[in-house]
Amino acid sequence: MAWTDQVAIVTGGARGIGRAAALLLAERGAAVCVNCAARRDAAEAVVREIEAAGGRAVAIVADVADNKAVVAMIEAVTAQLGPPTILVNNAGISHQATLDTYDPERLARMRRVNVDGVIHATRAVMGGMRARRYGRIVNVTSIAAIGTALAGNAFYAASKAEVAILTRRFAMELGPDGITVNAVAPGFIRTDMTRANRAGDDWAAAERRLAERAMMRRIGEPQDIAHAIAFLAAPESGWITAQTLVVDGGRMDYIGHA
Ligand code: NAI
Repeated sequence: MAWTDQVAIVTGGARGIGRAAALLLAERGAAVCVNCAARRDAAEAVVREIEAAGGRAVAIVADVADNKAVVAMIEAVTAQLGPPTILVNNAGISHQATLDTYDPERLARMRRVNVDGVIHATRAVMGGMRARRYGRIVNVTSIAAIGTALAGNAFYAASKAEVAILTRRFAMELGPDGITVNAVAPGFIRTDMTRANRAGDDWAAAERRLAERAMMRRIGEPQDIAHAIAFLAAPESGWITAQTLVVDGGRMDYIGHA
């Protein structure tokens, strides 16, 4: 199947890693649904960028934590662009907190977005993918899930670890139907999320500190992750499944390292 036959859904595609992935998948030739939870204007700006470059895209508002909204989104994408062949489960939020400081409501919300969102979107696309015996699902987890230990990241890391195991298990369930399920585990990327987590902190100092922990001596850019997502979403990647591709510039501070 050629890139130009692909229809991709990128959840949380209006900014950051999702935006970069939406733009790159469109550049490869896929028609793209740019999903967002609320800020339609930002998603529409990405759609206009794709259209200006000659691509096809639509912006669809749907909270991935809301199963009904996700099902309606898939129906709308199918009607407007065609049946989805690629799903990028990128939408995610981070509640920075410790055992002492966490807010149960925010923790529950993070879980509904980061974990239930992946389940909802996967369930919503899998029927059509099974029927056509073709699909590429790429989940965005985090290196936090596999052992880095930034302060305040424990619960977020746990939600992403859940995504990592679901990636392997869903790959097992869907493989016989021609559907691959993989994950990308980004290191520290320059996005609104990482900046928001450092409100009041000196961003430049945080960037320097984290760059020093990577072999490549820099933090990541959204395009670094988009590239890995596009690789796993490619038609040629049909024999890669159940994998988590770590894209972190060679981080050296995993738990257990001296
Ligand atoms: P971001 O906050 O800049 O963008 C996330 C996007 O997801 C936003 O457009 C947001 O509106 C959307 N979103 C949030 N909740 C949603 C919901 N319920 N339904 C639909 N859309 C929703 O974040 P960033 O940094 O681009 O992160 C993207 C993904 O990468 C997230 O899953 C994040 O956990 C993960 N990640 C990010 C890292 C980083 O250093 N920035 C590192 C490791 C993983």
